[in-house]
Amino acid sequence: MIYFDNAATTKTRPELIDLAVRLNNEYFANPSSNHALGHEAKRIYEQARKQILAHFNGDFKLVFTSGATEANNLFIKGVALKYKNRGKKLITTVGEHPSVLNAFKQLEEEFGFHVTYLPLLEDGSVDPNELIKSIDDQTILVSIMHVNNEVGAINDLAMLSKIIKAFPKCFFHSDVTQSIGKIKIPYQFIDAFSFSAHKIHGFKGSGALILREKIDLLPLLSGGSHECHVRAGTEAFIPNILLAKTLRLALENEEKSYRHVEALVSYLRAKLALNNEIIINSPVNACPFVLNFSLVNIKSSIVVEALSNAGIMVSSNSACDDKLASHSETVYAMYHDLKRSQNSVRISLGEENTLAEVDHFIEVLNNILESVKK
Ligand SMILES: Cc1ncc(COP(=O)(O)O)c(C=O)c1O
Repeated sequence: MIYFDNAATTKTRPELIDLAVRLNNEYFANPSSNHALGHEAKRIYEQARKQILAHFNGDFKLVFTSGATEANNLFIKGVALKYKNRGKKLITTVGEHPSVLNAFKQLEEEFGFHVTYLPLLEDGSVDPNELIKSIDDQTILVSIMHVNNEVGAINDLAMLSKIIKAFPKCFFHSDVTQSIGKIKIPYQFIDAFSFSAHKIHGFKGSGALILREKIDLLPLLSGGSHECHVRAGTEAFIPNILLAKTLRLALENEEKSYRHVEALVSYLRAKLALNNEIIINSPVNACPFVLNFSLVNIKSSIVVEALSNAGIMVSSNSACDDKLASHSETVYAMYHDLKRSQNSVRISLGEENTLAEVDHFIEVLNNILESVKK
């Protein structure tokens, strides 16, 4: 089996599984319990929080969540509803993950906010001139992802932050789910960011929202005082502690895995470019962990299924959309070509993939395209 769908999820590192078993045996008390076992659980839980925050210098706090979906929802809705008296304008982009886009849609449809969805340039990034045109002193939140999950396009958050900082009432959030542990996050320039453990070889069901100390949020879940009153419910003790190790290992491996994946992807790009049935959608300066291409005359679902039958796992869109969307929103926003966006395929490599796998993939893909043509 060849796994080329690492943007959807990654294989859990074995050392994390060992740690999970050990933690489960040694600590089972509720960290909020007022006895020695509870205190001990609380101590190592808070230590994990500090270890994560230590990677990000500055006045940040951390809310553990069930993943990036929850972290995105918590920040976007939490800020909009908490600060609604300051202004009712919000800005995001058409290329965001559904956990961002649909949070904004809900604020627009149910709570009367005015949302601007910024278009994308042909390289998949946000046009800063469009941001300049939309932002004003009624804008309380801008959310722009760092690396796009469908094509790997990178937004220059440092440059965009210069525009946003001219409006001191406005917070700048970024979904860094596809960049954390892969490329450096310019976190110094943003007010908050969200990510998931399972995209960086951690456990599914755990993630974090990291935000500036000064920011208040309206909680999505009402209940006890857990997570500084922002996210009620007994802490997901083991997954959250594992997140600290997951992130440390990802950051330690970042440069090595980037070099490895970049070499594989530039080889793969060059090989795909030889086939005139294929057009590459990912911009040349994309984050190499995602490579998106379209098939000129064949539906991507046919090819994705044929590859799967041959033991090669790739994606025809972002995994969350597969059943719903018949095209890639991001590819459409970049090229305004419906057929191209319907026929797109996403390859997402990771540190475990090899050159031999890439060669095998190219051979199988070429055979599939030949047989479909016939
Ligand atoms: C950019 C981006 N944001 C958010 C998410 C949601 O992550 P999760 O499903 O782990 O909550 C994903 C997952 O595909 C993603 O790629």
